[in-house]
Amino acid sequence: MEDGPVNLREFQELAKRNLPKMYYDYFSGGAEDQFTLRENVEAFQRIMLRPRILVDVSKIDMSTTLLGYNMSSPILVAPTGSQQLAHPQGELATARAAAACNTIMVLSFASNYSLEDVASTCSAVRFYQLYVFKRRDVSAALLQRAERNGYKAIVVTVDTPRLGRREADIKNKMIMPRNSNLEGLISVDVNPTGGSKLEAFASETLDPSLSWKDIEWLKSITKLPIMVKGIITAEDARKAVDAGVSGIVVSNHGARQLDYTPPTISVLDEVVKAVSGAVPVLLDGGVRRGTDVFKALALGAKAVMIGRPVVYGLAVKGEHGVRSVIKMLQNELELTMALAGCPTLRDITRNHVMINYERP
Ligand code: FNR
Repeated sequence: MEDGPVNLREFQELAKRNLPKMYYDYFSGGAEDQFTLRENVEAFQRIMLRPRILVDVSKIDMSTTLLGYNMSSPILVAPTGSQQLAHPQGELATARAAAACNTIMVLSFASNYSLEDVASTCSAVRFYQLYVFKRRDVSAALLQRAERNGYKAIVVTVDTPRLGRREADIKNKMIMPRNSNLEGLISVDVNPTGGSKLEAFASETLDPSLSWKDIEWLKSITKLPIMVKGIITAEDARKAVDAGVSGIVVSNHGARQLDYTPPTISVLDEVVKAVSGAVPVLLDGGVRRGTDVFKALALGAKAVMIGRPVVYGLAVKGEHGVRSVIKMLQNELELTMALAGCPTLRDITRNHVMINYERP
């Protein structure tokens, strides 16, 4: 794509042109005033870098491991639903692109292609994202299918006892896309009264009584490592460690759930301190530049995940587009490390960033 986008923001602009408005709004939107949506991105822009000079950066090594699995860089693919709305190959294309970039894809429970289809197109390491539904038997069945199909970890999303209020979806009367994983397991009446079909589906299936006991329950029915996604306070991070999770994702669901939660990068520090190395801490939300990845690592993240940029890549050019998005971010991180005097990820420290920067 020589004449194609040169950064992730340009992918978004192109995706907007390519997609029907209803789908673009679904992918790009956030909850209510979308304050957190903007802040997720802008908070990164208030953190400055403190590079070190005269360090030999002739070789840069971005490779890392997560839960014992190798990755070419600390950038994963976040779970995002309904990828066929972006491209006919949907999650299959994303899985192939993630594998080609030697990174890990977290498949959303709300995928258009089934978890079996995705497994058979891609033998690379994959994780599976799960909700604990009102129907526990459905969650258990999905978990067992994920195990059988070689998914290596379960990422349970805990910030969605109910669906956040996404006003664009309500206005557009957003359709309820096909969910292959749930076929034959759940049949819900998705005739909304005044909301989006998505909302109607969520309120029938998601369980507002979800609690820490359910994490215990999940642990009791699988040997796979369980990561929790959607923690943004030190208090909950400590509870998660006590509950025996294998990892934490600092996430506000890409600002699609509770508006006016702080941008994720601003709470990473407190979560990392609370966890004090017990389990890896990941971050997602607003990561659009290699410098953003660098900042998250400097503040203690083991890795980051990207959500919307992957979908935009998919909308622009399918598998090739997703590959370009991941590679672009990897290349930017590599350059940032070189210019900041950090030849390996271990060299990136808290002292490489300045938070609370104010314009003089
Ligand atoms: C999401 N996200 C999400 N998370 C999850 O746990 N299960 C899901 O099914 C979905 N679906 C989903 C759809 C779409 C269209 C978006 C944009 C996001 C949240 C996602 O995993 C991640 O937390 C955010 O997308 C990260 O923020 P950025 O990178 O999009 O800014």
